[in-house]
Amino acid sequence: MGIQKQIAVLPGDGIGPDVINQAIRVLDTIAKKYNHQFSYQFALMGADAIDKTGEPLPQATLDLCKASDAVLFGAVGHPKYDQDPNAKVRPEQGLLKLRKELGLFANIRPVTTYPTLYHLSPIKSNLLEHVDIEIFRELTGGIYFGKKETSIDGKSALDTCTYHVDEIARIARLAFKRAEERKRKLTLVDKANVLETSRLWRRTVNEIAKEFPDVEVFQMYVDNAAMQLIINPSQFDVILTENMFGDILSDEASVLAGSLGLLPSASIGNGTAVFEPIHGSYPQAAGKDIANPSAAILSAAMMLDHFGLHQEASEIRTAIEWTISNSFVTKDIDPINFYFTSTIGELVCDFIMNRVEDAIHKANIQLRKSTII
Ligand code: IPM
Ligand code: MG
Repeated sequence: MGIQKQIAVLPGDGIGPDVINQAIRVLDTIAKKYNHQFSYQFALMGADAIDKTGEPLPQATLDLCKASDAVLFGAVGHPKYDQDPNAKVRPEQGLLKLRKELGLFANIRPVTTYPTLYHLSPIKSNLLEHVDIEIFRELTGGIYFGKKETSIDGKSALDTCTYHVDEIARIARLAFKRAEERKRKLTLVDKANVLETSRLWRRTVNEIAKEFPDVEVFQMYVDNAAMQLIINPSQFDVILTENMFGDILSDEASVLAGSLGLLPSASIGNGTAVFEPIHGSYPQAAGKDIANPSAAILSAAMMLDHFGLHQEASEIRTAIEWTISNSFVTKDIDPINFYFTSTIGELVCDFIMNRVEDAIHKANIQLRKSTII
């Protein structure tokens, strides 16, 4: 007997709709194979929502998210806002509000490398072997959400970074639990030689570490961590860090994978969880069927894990690995011999439904492959 879930879908801007369509297609295939019922309710978010309603996260979208079992989210952002630092309403505000309103205090970003893609990373291949990292980034506190001010004369500004021990403890426990299931190594990244908040993180994490005696804890300053991620990335297992350090380090870590188009994420808290690719809206590629849907499809897999559907999630991951190792890849990975977004989605579904033989011999796969030489 399968399960029933209601999923709020926020495709957002740019390539968001392109990649989310493929994630839904894959979810539908899983639903069919395992007899689950997933229903989807679509809602507005980002620049698209600003154009239509004046707000980046309309109340109706928020209400829908709160009433759903999970949120599948594409991307937000539009160049017209990036070029205007004075814009009063920005698409990113919608994302920050969604995180705050849903209490999404933990952002989980796995970084996996694929041997056939080592050449795409600017990092030497030998350093990429055995890289398998999960970053736990605190998402609703710190400098992102502290008091902000610009003086009346416009000549000074402040952003404050505040953390409460409870905010640290709740994400730390999640990260330790995950480390227990993995290689039992947790690295706390902070700047405890300078920042009070970092010292609070250290004290709190050291306390919580006592509840998880099997997990080995390492502490690393963020400047050193930025360097270690490049010179010796395989030393990391679970990385635990505060909001802004996590933002920066997760973009840095993504270069290990070779393409931003491969990295999924989960944001979880006390209420509805949100699953989204870490890449942005890439407006130049919107609607062209060339974006990489892997990160969105892998985000859907993280959603299934969250529902407790681990076998289903792992089938999706295996299917994505199969596409990559057979060079069924999009333009970001192979600019000459690339397949379209929708073709990758179709191949992943074919693999899940054991139609691989048919799939790779299907003439239309060839037809849908780029002919640029
Ligand atoms: C991310 C993004 C966001 C962040 C932006 C879009 C506000 O960079 O999810 O990492 O800084 O958290
Ligand atoms: Mg970021």
